[in-house]
Amino acid sequence: MKINTAEFIVSNSDVSKCPNEPLPEYAFIGRSNVGKSSLINMITNRNSLAKTSGKPGKTQLINHFKINENWYLVDLPGYGYARVSKSTKETFQKFITDYFERREQLVCAFVLIDIRLEAQKIDLEFINYLGETEVPFCIVFTKADKISRGKVDQHIAAYRKKLLANNWEEMPQHFVTSSTEGTGRDALLSYIEEVNQGIFKNQGFV
Ligand code: GTP
Ligand code: MG
Repeated sequence: MKINTAEFIVSNSDVSKCPNEPLPEYAFIGRSNVGKSSLINMITNRNSLAKTSGKPGKTQLINHFKINENWYLVDLPGYGYARVSKSTKETFQKFITDYFERREQLVCAFVLIDIRLEAQKIDLEFINYLGETEVPFCIVFTKADKISRGKVDQHIAAYRKKLLANNWEEMPQHFVTSSTEGTGRDALLSYIEEVNQGIFKNQGFV
């Protein structure tokens, strides 16, 4: 899919104030600093559409970006930064859980995982939360440029093992990306295009 237009529409912390058009949207979620905003810029081929930072906690609101006039990418704040781990519910900000529980336009969450790290408790908790909430999701491994190709495969195999040990029956659909090298862009865009086509063929979904 070619990106012809990518425009920032609105930021807010209230799901009821998100754009109310019936257009499919894809949300990026994951720990602070994992590379959500960078990946949105990489996918859209825009340097600074979404704001990025070397310091965690940059994105603070729900940000809607309209792509090609007919679908949305959504940048969300990260979780797990400077927050004491309490119950799962309290760990994730209320407006984020509201977003996942109430946003009808959301067709897929991309859960970003730093490919370099061992499976983190907070990510597994969030993945389980999405499962319980019945939100469709894919896993997106980030920062693949930081390790060798062989290590990438090893880390994915270890992640799969961890998910199976956490009662998942199979590894969800996953992508390997690097925002600095453009890795995974075509695969992600093809996936989104395919899902969008299914939705538009059925003349909408909400
Ligand atoms: P919050 O908004 O704070 O939750 O963070 P975020 O997940 O949006 O991360 P962001 O995109 O701001 O990136 C965090 C840091 O990681 C920045 O310094 C980026 O340049 C760096 N980064 C992101 N993606 C990649 C990548 O694929 N490779 C490398 N080498 N660095 C990356
Ligand atoms: Mg961000």
